[in-house]
Amino acid sequence: MTLPHDTLFDVDGALIVGAGLAGLYTALRMAPHPVTVLSPMALGEGASSAWAQGGIAAALGDDDSPAAHARDTVAAGAGTVDPAVALSVAEEAAKRIEDLAGLGTPFDRDAAGRFLQSREAAHSAHRVVRVKGDAAGRAIMQALIGAVRATPSIRVIEGIEADDLALAGGRVAGVFARSACDPWAAPMLFRAPQVVLATGGIGGLYRITSNPSRVRGQGLGMAARAGAMIADPEFVQFHPTGIAVDRDPAPLASEALRGEGAVLIDETGARFMPAIHPDAELAPRDVVARAVHHHINAGHRVFLDTRAALGARLAEQFPTVAGYCREAGIDPAVEPIPVAPIQHYHMGGVRTDAAGRTSLDGLWAVGEVACTGLHGANRLASNSLLEALVFGARIATAITETAPGATVQPAGALLTPEPGPEPGPEPGPEPETDTLPEAALGELRRIMTADVGVERDGAGLTRALRTIARIERECEGASRAFLNMLTTATLVAAAALRRTESRGGHARADYPETDPAQARPTLITLDQALAIRAEAEETAP
Ligand code: SIN
Repeated sequence: MTLPHDTLFDVDGALIVGAGLAGLYTALRMAPHPVTVLSPMALGEGASSAWAQGGIAAALGDDDSPAAHARDTVAAGAGTVDPAVALSVAEEAAKRIEDLAGLGTPFDRDAAGRFLQSREAAHSAHRVVRVKGDAAGRAIMQALIGAVRATPSIRVIEGIEADDLALAGGRVAGVFARSACDPWAAPMLFRAPQVVLATGGIGGLYRITSNPSRVRGQGLGMAARAGAMIADPEFVQFHPTGIAVDRDPAPLASEALRGEGAVLIDETGARFMPAIHPDAELAPRDVVARAVHHHINAGHRVFLDTRAALGARLAEQFPTVAGYCREAGIDPAVEPIPVAPIQHYHMGGVRTDAAGRTSLDGLWAVGEVACTGLHGANRLASNSLLEALVFGARIATAITETAPGATVQPAGALLTPEPGPEPGPEPGPEPETDTLPEAALGELRRIMTADVGVERDGAGLTRALRTIARIERECEGASRAFLNMLTTATLVAAAALRRTESRGGHARADYPETDPAQARPTLITLDQALAIRAEAEETAP
């Protein structure tokens, strides 16, 4: 694809788009090969990883094994996890934790220096490595940022957001990007032989999410528009215990609280999970989220009661949650925390192979934007940071092995600006305002929440697809960023309409059973999703 652009940069080495844990760790693993990282905000800001309260799952205990970890991953994924991927990721977990510890991540340890491990839902063992209870994301990001800043082969460019993949000679050859503050800023072309997408998830497509609000599926949409194969977009994870204080993004009450014995109650003080699943509050996350959703829809209020399990210890053991509660005027030592399900994670993404390669030559994907086959229909808690680390390392190895002659260069020399513009088609007419269509975005987030949320049905999904199509028509000429969001929303809703069963994070009220014949991942292109959307538009309202 050639867009008119004002400036052309030739990147020496790979280009990583996104600077959360996935992007930064991949960059570090490439050293001393040169790499450029585009970050939409200052490093550490706006990345979901920094907000992660959970930790990293790794079978390190004497009573645990990678095989058991892989088994739990496969079971939580509800029939569509790739077991070979699950086992290989579980087997690499210990090495990746050691890497992070070596970079200075202050993981919680016992008196003998062994990693402390906590329990989370659907894990059969204490297996989650944490930092200060619930602060792993922030601490890992601090360690990575320090290491990145000290690595001369990594060049970070802050304040830049990518909108389009650049294609040349049948392969991805860079990205078109612009100032992250201005969706109408003149595009710059960053030309690179290898592009790694590490742009995060889709949380901001929903009304309330645990993700930073600027994370709205732009990377997935950009890859789909370039023709990449997308996998499992219908599988969206809702966290059962967002703290219900009318905030977006909403703070989380970590699942580890339930691992410590906290229980879900309603306004009468009664528990409802034991009647729903033998593991009660430690049932798989999708089961708990749906139960909370149904209980709220039945007119109840739902609370996480930490009083008996943790009492005053919560403040010390879970300082992040304690801080959120304090801000909201809740004292969890003496009163239960009001909770509701919120969008948390996207299992689907740009399809990759076991090395992180996408279906487009020259394009790799890592972290939440990718779909590697690890999570299936429902991600096991604390497997996401692990997946980002394992695939970041694999991508770095694959890319650097194909460029064995690369040499270390001082960061300042990695980019060579050339005067533009390059010839290309005339730019389309600019809209009268340069603001993102806020009203349309609000409508998109409402329809995704109401009709493509915790529970879906055919009528709602059809309505959602029709609405997305109408918004796209009405916003013709809108920014590429918004087009990327609409593209991702289309993929999620279309795949959800096509999957006529309930499985993991995809619950259909009109198809409540799991259908063994559909126990396979979804593979879908944007063209296929648009055909489903066109059909939905033809269906009478
Ligand atoms: C949590 O701590 O509940 C979130 C952890 C995760 O999503 O893996």
